[in-house]
Amino acid sequence: MRSITIIKAALLFTFVCVSTINFAQKKDKEMEKLIEENFLLAAEQYKLLGKNTPSNVMPRNYIGIEKKLVTSNTSWWTSGFFPGSLWYIYEQTKDTAIKAEAERRLGILEKEKYHTKDHDLGFMIYCSFGNAYRITGNKAYKEVAFTAAETLIKRYRPSINAIQSWDSNAKFKCPVIIDNMMNLELLCWASDQQREPKYKVIAIDHANTTLKNHYRPDFSSYHVVDFNLETGEVAAKKTAQGFSDESVWSRGQSWGLYGFLIMYRFTKEPTYLQQAKNIAGFILDHPSLPKDNVPYWDFNSTDIPNTYRDVSAAAILASALLELGQYTDGKEKEVNVKTAKKILKSLSTAKYRNKPGQNGGFILKHSVGSVPHQSEVDVPLTYADYYFLEALIRYKNWYLQAAQN
Ligand code: GLY
Repeated sequence: MRSITIIKAALLFTFVCVSTINFAQKKDKEMEKLIEENFLLAAEQYKLLGKNTPSNVMPRNYIGIEKKLVTSNTSWWTSGFFPGSLWYIYEQTKDTAIKAEAERRLGILEKEKYHTKDHDLGFMIYCSFGNAYRITGNKAYKEVAFTAAETLIKRYRPSINAIQSWDSNAKFKCPVIIDNMMNLELLCWASDQQREPKYKVIAIDHANTTLKNHYRPDFSSYHVVDFNLETGEVAAKKTAQGFSDESVWSRGQSWGLYGFLIMYRFTKEPTYLQQAKNIAGFILDHPSLPKDNVPYWDFNSTDIPNTYRDVSAAAILASALLELGQYTDGKEKEVNVKTAKKILKSLSTAKYRNKPGQNGGFILKHSVGSVPHQSEVDVPLTYADYYFLEALIRYKNWYLQAAQN
């Protein structure tokens, strides 16, 4: 009798194990297929986008009703994302037409290594030339990124221990925006590559100032902290692109999370990881986060649920959560990776992803530039595509391949 019970238990155990393995493999196959399918679509769409975009400018967004592609010159903060995405697509598909387009676009972008108008050098040069160097090993690309790092630190202000985001204007004296955390990747990378600490020292200074001044006790972030350069004091905490000064602008939360993970990656300082965990906790537990995990443009918009989603905030969040998944274990890791996966699956549905030939060649739709400025509202945007592709690659390299080994 006892041996029959043991045999039954053993059979049940074997069944559970086999089912779990099958389920995991099936799930992985599902993601493998999804990633492949997205890169095939991306190659097709980005060839079209390249064809539609005059050779001296970059794509910016697409107005569906007017069937109109909106472009920008290379000094606009998003100019690095189109070439950056082309490099990601080339890396996955080895499509030489995509590579040629990426190289052509770098040609018009290179002059921005001297861009001093604002802080956006990381977005413009690291996402484009940084990826180009990583993928090709071409030292000329690395030199462009080094020059950009040198240009960026010209905006460092010792009296506030931070990099000034925008020049002073009618609204702000010395504004530092949460988005600025993204530029620290260029600085940390430049320091490590050159064995020259000065860039990373500034990045650390900036991250510490941001940690101290941008975050509320619940780990949500203000968009703009305005400083008085003479006294070094905070003059005001405001928004530029959010619903209100005290609201939680979605993309800003994603930028902050991603930014503190960059800082942890390069310094291994536990404070930055803890900050990232706290930010992620705030976002993922927020009652306004929809079931498909694609945030509304502001967590505090009074029009929720009858307002816009921001696919760009979701794509950045997915990519960041996959990095956080690398630094967490157990249940915590599972939540981070599962949420990122859910976002990637949501963004791959017809609700958020363009069909071949649609929207001028962009991959995703339904992003938001700035609702208060009524600028780029509910349109495809290059940075949504860029971080979506990056997140797919991160999933493939860090989770899919690990599961198969
Ligand atoms: N300045 C970057 C953004 O709009 O998110």
